[in-house]
Amino acid sequence: MNDETLNGYDRYIGQTFAVEDEALSAAREEMRREGLPEINVSASEGKLLHILALMSGARRILEVGTLGGYSTIWLARALPPDGRLITLELDPHHAEVARRSLDRAGLAGKVEVRVGPALASLSQMEAGGEAPFDLAFIDADKDGYVEYLKKAVALVRPGGLILGDNTLPDAVLDPAGDSGAKRYNTAVAAHPDLISIIFPVLRERGLDGLLVSMKRENR
Ligand code: SAH
Ligand code: DHB
Ligand code: MG
Repeated sequence: MNDETLNGYDRYIGQTFAVEDEALSAAREEMRREGLPEINVSASEGKLLHILALMSGARRILEVGTLGGYSTIWLARALPPDGRLITLELDPHHAEVARRSLDRAGLAGKVEVRVGPALASLSQMEAGGEAPFDLAFIDADKDGYVEYLKKAVALVRPGGLILGDNTLPDAVLDPAGDSGAKRYNTAVAAHPDLISIIFPVLRERGLDGLLVSMKRENR
């Protein structure tokens, strides 16, 4: 199936189930204006994140990789009134753009954008006795994914979800292929505490994946 056909399916899903409101389209507009790369999740994947957060009853969400706050808005909108989301971002300019869009979306009170290398922030959280998260969404530099996974497993409660974006890179089609996301998939599949599957998702350049893992309750 060619990318144009895949795009058509993605548009259908988005237009039927994931219509953007003013805050979401403004967030994308703001990213474009500020010269951020358009590598945010699609609206349909945003809706998938939203519904997974609702299904897990998430009150505390962790995001690794904020960019302009687009996926952050989809996730934070699943939180109850007293819920909280912490999102980690390396680039101060990205963080500033995200804060503006989160503010416009009325989510500034629920969301904290923490600037710095994600691994340092995660280590700090672990050492500082951060309360457990119900859901973690990993979507930053792919070479960091395996380390982020280790931190996420420690920081997410039993029964909680760990989601990995961009987990169907071309490298999975080549037995000798290597990529950060493929290494993440292998680590997740071998992890004794995780029950996992990749959800194929559609995006601009064709097919991608969201790796959904649930941390086991019974151990
Ligand atoms: N979740 C966003 C997209 C994130 S793109 C969305 O779907 O809307 C990946 C982001 O990770 C970029 O903003 C990039 O600056 C950030 N990033 C890259 N390396 C990082 C690191 N070591 N620590 C934290 N963030 C990092
Ligand atoms: C790309 C897409 C992403 O969702 C991401 O997190 C990083 C890169 C991309 O299409 O290049
Ligand atoms: Mg991504």
